[in-house]
Amino acid sequence: MEAVLEVRDVSVRFGGLNALSEVSFAVRRNEILGIVGPNGAGKSTLFGVICGDVPRNTGDVLLSGKSLGTRSSHEIARLGLVRTFQTPRPFSSMSFVENATIAALTRTNDVRAARVEAEQAIARVGLSHCLDRPSSGASTGQRKRLDIARALTTRPQVLLLDEPLGGVDPGSIAEVLDMLRQIRDQGTTLVVIEHNLEALTGIADRLIAMTLGRKIADGPAQEVMRDERLIRAYLGDDDVAA
Ligand SMILES: Nc1ncnc2c1ncn2[C@@H]1O[C@H](COP(=O)(O)OP(=O)(O)OP(=O)(O)O)[C@@H](O)[C@H]1O
Ligand SMILES: [Mg+2]
Repeated sequence: MEAVLEVRDVSVRFGGLNALSEVSFAVRRNEILGIVGPNGAGKSTLFGVICGDVPRNTGDVLLSGKSLGTRSSHEIARLGLVRTFQTPRPFSSMSFVENATIAALTRTNDVRAARVEAEQAIARVGLSHCLDRPSSGASTGQRKRLDIARALTTRPQVLLLDEPLGGVDPGSIAEVLDMLRQIRDQGTTLVVIEHNLEALTGIADRLIAMTLGRKIADGPAQEVMRDERLIRAYLGDDDVAA
């Protein structure tokens, strides 16, 4: 199957820290790919590199077979690749729909068309009742959804979600998972970083596991979850040695 996104030998150094070391993988069109790994594994840094927010020291990122080179995140968004953030920070003085309208202006200069796009995206994430509310009053779960709505206004081919369930109340998790499945079924390929492994294995077609900046496993969810290096990374070496 065609790879819509390809990461080739990407390395990132922050001073003396190897945040990513020669990470490679491909994402197939229309799959949901999960990324797991303990805190500090380099998952968010990887999203930053893919979207043009974090410069890489080596390697390349290709969208539909074409190198993204050193394009800015804005240019990459216009090509159909966007991310959400682990800690979304909406413009708090603006309403939900105004926040999404700003994002929609990535694709159009027509403010009225952007507003329509924003309303549709907000409906897709189940927040139509919040359109004109100030985003300063949003709960964590609502911020996460608003961030997804902002991303959807750009009509992405590929959407990278950084911990979409983080801080979401447990009663809403099934609803968010359904929403993600719908987004995929409507034609957007998803790459999802998530610490809620049970929820992630429920929706992901495939998982990648990372630790200390390296990819350590890549395959069907059940197989990756049994990977000894991943279990060791989560538990800490001391626990396994004991
Ligand atoms: N801008 C930066 N400058 C210096 N170090 C950074 C920077 N961003 C991240 N790091 C470091 O790089 C490593 C990887 O961080 P990253 O945020 O990518 O991990 P993560 O897998 O997303 O972790 P978490 O699950 O906690 O979100 C960490 O050691 C982090 O402290
Ligand atoms: Mg992170």
